[in-house]
Amino acid sequence: MQAVILAGGLGTRLRPITYSRPKALVPLLNRPMILHALDALPAVVDEVIIAASYMVDALERFFSGRRESRRITFVEEEEPLGTGGALRNLEGTLRGRFLALNVDVISSVELEGLVATHKAKGGIGTLALWEVAQPEAYGIVDIDEDGRVQRFLEKPAADEVFSHWINAGAYVFEEALLDRIPEGRPVSLEREIFPVVLSEGVYGLPFQGYWSDAGTLGQYLDATRILLDRQTGSEEAAEIPSEVIPPVAIDPSAHVTGGSVGPYVAIGADSRVTEAHLSRSVLLERAVVEEGAAVVDSLIGAGATIERDALVRECIVGDGASVGIGSQRVAEQVES
Ligand code: GTP
Repeated sequence: MQAVILAGGLGTRLRPITYSRPKALVPLLNRPMILHALDALPAVVDEVIIAASYMVDALERFFSGRRESRRITFVEEEEPLGTGGALRNLEGTLRGRFLALNVDVISSVELEGLVATHKAKGGIGTLALWEVAQPEAYGIVDIDEDGRVQRFLEKPAADEVFSHWINAGAYVFEEALLDRIPEGRPVSLEREIFPVVLSEGVYGLPFQGYWSDAGTLGQYLDATRILLDRQTGSEEAAEIPSEVIPPVAIDPSAHVTGGSVGPYVAIGADSRVTEAHLSRSVLLERAVVEEGAAVVDSLIGAGATIERDALVRECIVGDGASVGIGSQRVAEQVES
């Protein structure tokens, strides 16, 4: 079976990190998101098609240095075609029934079960559904007792909310879906296609456990928290001369001394943290946090520096950027 990984978005909400790498290569617990997506695929998948556009070269370079157990095929969109246009662009590459996943989702959905449900229901598509209290930022889905989707609405206003089940970004589709998508222009699967193919049978499969897409800073930190809560004890055992409040994930090549680290902190390879305080934050590779600095609820890019006594809260600091001595940055995107 083939699986498509939708990895061609611009990732604007994670800027400036996504100015220098595609979202698919932004690490979650020191591992690029796209590898988490590949890990989630069931054994029945023997070919993965990566539908990419923005910074596709970086993705191809990443995979050229790796050995994967499955065949990986890149299909590039010259301009991003949206989630629907990306699938239409795969006409001729996709054969029969296929899986499709958003690259930025961390979840406990069992894709084998999604495929089995799809086969049993016999519709044109089946979506995994996750329940949230505040669905306005997502696509909401209403299903009947048989699991058949009755209504679908992308990003409803507060007074339009008819369901708390949201599209979790994992699908099984029949090849016939591709014909329903207009060719040669950007098309949103969620806004344009789902509403019109409901009559051909679209089913929803609710699941429980965990889910987060990692598309905004808050969701990215949530996804990190979920993964840290699930990691085994051995990964927490790194002995470092700092106060450590678990759970944390510290790359063995990172140098962390003094100060405090945690909870919910991930520190990437070759980073250096000296007598600083980090909580609910992620440092990518080669980041530096100097004496007396504090980093809270933030994502710090590769090679970025947080200088002495600075405070960074709810910020995305770009790769290579720096925050000067003693300065305070709150809810900002810090570019180099
Ligand atoms: P934002 O710009 O922050 O909204 O991020 P994004 O561009 O990734 O969009 P969004 O989070 O809505 O995308 C959901 C999923 O669809 C992600 O896995 C994206 O990589 C993917 N995606 C979005 N647009 C495209 C596109 O034009 N082509 C392809 N191939 N994938 C896309």
